[in-house]
Amino acid sequence: KKRIAVMTSGGDAPGMNAVVRAVVRQTIASGCVSYAVYEGYQGLVDGGDMIREMAWEDVRGWTSEGGTLIGTARCMAFMQREGRVTAANNMIEKGIDALVICGGDGSLTGADKFRSEWPSLMDELVSSGKRTEEAIKPFRHLNIVGLVGSIDNDLSSTDATIGCYSSLQRICQAIDFIDATAFSHQRAFVIEVMGRHCGWLALMAGVSCGADFIFIPENPPSKNWEEEMCSIVRKHRQMGKRRTIVVCAEGAHDRQLNKVTSSMVKDLLSNTVGLDTRITTLGHVQRGGPPCSYDRMLATLQGVEAVKAVLDAKPDTPSPVICIVENKIVRKPMLDAIAKTKEVAAAIERKDYDAAMRGRDAE
Ligand code: F6P
Repeated sequence: KKRIAVMTSGGDAPGMNAVVRAVVRQTIASGCVSYAVYEGYQGLVDGGDMIREMAWEDVRGWTSEGGTLIGTARCMAFMQREGRVTAANNMIEKGIDALVICGGDGSLTGADKFRSEWPSLMDELVSSGKRTEEAIKPFRHLNIVGLVGSIDNDLSSTDATIGCYSSLQRICQAIDFIDATAFSHQRAFVIEVMGRHCGWLALMAGVSCGADFIFIPENPPSKNWEEEMCSIVRKHRQMGKRRTIVVCAEGAHDRQLNKVTSSMVKDLLSNTVGLDTRITTLGHVQRGGPPCSYDRMLATLQGVEAVKAVLDAKPDTPSPVICIVENKIVRKPMLDAIAKTKEVAAAIERKDYDAAMRGRDAE
């Protein structure tokens, strides 16, 4: 029987548990044996009880749980070849040669490297006497399938990463709460949202909540952004708005790549526009908590597709990442998706914001 392991890696995202549930159950329903690797890549390196067989009942109720119940960790040991040799040996110990990984682009890049190195890791296990040629024969190919779990929605090639809509929902809810108090006191609020180098959460939350101004890394405001923002906010006040909401992505910067911070924005609103202004940094409340229905659905459909992709895989097909494009669950070459994501970062670095925006738009 084929043994398929599932793992979560990188920052947790709402919907990761629904992924694990779907992968475990689809694996069992396909007549294979299911395993979960606990604590991300660290669990692969540690082996033993960190790689556990999973039963159907083990994942009961996991669709609605936030975070990742099998844990995630940043693992230095896996960055070293020695750690990867140990990880490969631990997988063989359990008879596993297929791994479904839910994480961000960094975690998926690591997974693909592991796969490309796998044959040489096998050779090393034989040459060091840890395994016999005979023992590794059935494990000559490692099968990797990626799922994108991240609140940032920063992976090119997919319309939505697992977790981004839960986070967006949470941010909008928080802004609605702030709206009420801002309105009461006629105050201004600068809301700082997560997203790392991606402005999707800030942009979508700003649009959804009727923000007065939004800062995102991919499309920084004009050279005179200070004046521009103040005049827009003043105009809105003259039109009768009692509250001001400015959404600032944590990765925001101006067109010269100088960081735009919430406190810079607050100072302008206070000192130049004369508004009583507060900053709210939403922090990790954006990441924890139960997934919204969309993320549960996305995680479940993609988890099922990931197991199908494992079972369809040929030794020479590139590792796929499971995406959603125009509401269809599709497989795409993992490395292409990562390369396209890196192109957006590179476009921002060279201040080519048109290319950055095109890159985010492109499927
Ligand atoms: O990638 C998810 C994310 O929440 C980003 O939005 C944020 O920049 C980062 O992780 C925070 O990481 P940490 O939890 O390690 O502080």
